[in-house]
Amino acid sequence: MGSYVPKKVLTNFELEKMIDTSDEWIRTRTGIAERRVVDSGTFTSDLAAQAGLKALDEAKVSPQEIDLMIVATSSPDMIFPSTACLAQNKMGLKDCPAFDISAACTGFVYALAVADSFISSKTFEKVLVIGADALTRHVNWKDRNTCVLFGDGAGAVILGPVAKDYGILANYLAADGDGANLLKIPAGGSQLPGSEDSFREGLHFVSMNGNEVFKFAVRVIPEAVRKVLSQTGISLEEVNYIIPHQANQRIIEAAVSRLKVKPEKMVSNISKYGNTSTASIPLVIDELWKEGNLKSGDLILLVGFGAGLTWGASLIRWHKDPD
Ligand code: ACO
Repeated sequence: MGSYVPKKVLTNFELEKMIDTSDEWIRTRTGIAERRVVDSGTFTSDLAAQAGLKALDEAKVSPQEIDLMIVATSSPDMIFPSTACLAQNKMGLKDCPAFDISAACTGFVYALAVADSFISSKTFEKVLVIGADALTRHVNWKDRNTCVLFGDGAGAVILGPVAKDYGILANYLAADGDGANLLKIPAGGSQLPGSEDSFREGLHFVSMNGNEVFKFAVRVIPEAVRKVLSQTGISLEEVNYIIPHQANQRIIEAAVSRLKVKPEKMVSNISKYGNTSTASIPLVIDELWKEGNLKSGDLILLVGFGAGLTWGASLIRWHKDPD
């Protein structure tokens, strides 16, 4: 695994100087203390490439060994080519197929399931999966309802065949396009290409119905946890860590109470990074791993939710490669 966040830290206290908000409001309503933000010369493909290179280095895998590369993102560098192709070039990977997955904050969970299918079917052996987003490039820095929430980052994992009963044990994916309007960037696509009007009306920015998204998240986290576990004989008590998408600490706490699990089982690092969209889950896994809190045989359950609406979960028995 590898992860990367931009160096620039933006604290709540700095936001107090930019908009009508307070550190106290942001901390109590979201759990966020600071976030990382890209500078104007750094793109999502740069974050993805940095995380991907760290994963290659740590796994001692050469670029030539990667058979497929998938980037999950909802802040691509451009509409096309894919961010995966741009990051592939920056990483010096040659000729391997590369494509993006667009499932917003559930993107990493979707991408893992796709990679898992390719590996199980023996189509590809080593798959590089990256979740990367730079949503701070798409927020309206005058809109206190959204700009305090997001941060930038990327997490990468190299997947390959592992021993039976290890690795990805089950996936559960879901979507409901009926909720598409709850969270979106209205302009910049074929429905509303960039124009003077769209620019003037601020339609290139993230638009969100925060209360409805909150209720959706609190409902689908327990559902996804139960659905993924039901495909296996494994109980929630056996799971070592639940790693939810990091959107709001209060969403995480509501899920803890609905699932009736110990708070320490539901991992959070949102205070440091905010909502990094599809990067949030791999950022947490990498942190757990690097801090020595994951050992071979541990069960981790990833739960994503986000725009689309999309949601999903993945149950993994952590496998430590032989040294
Ligand atoms: N600072 C100070 N006050 C604020 C701020 C701010 N940054 N933002 C909103 N307020 C005010 C509002 O204007 C409102 O004031 P009013 O009562 O005078 O009208 C008041 O605070 C309460 O606003 P609410 O929207 O009701 O606040 P809430 O407690 O619901 O928190 C939040 C809002 C944090 C957005 C919450 O609804 C949330 O986290 N929703 C889920 C968001 C989410 O998960 N989004 C990402 C999904 S992932 C993806 O796919 C990208």
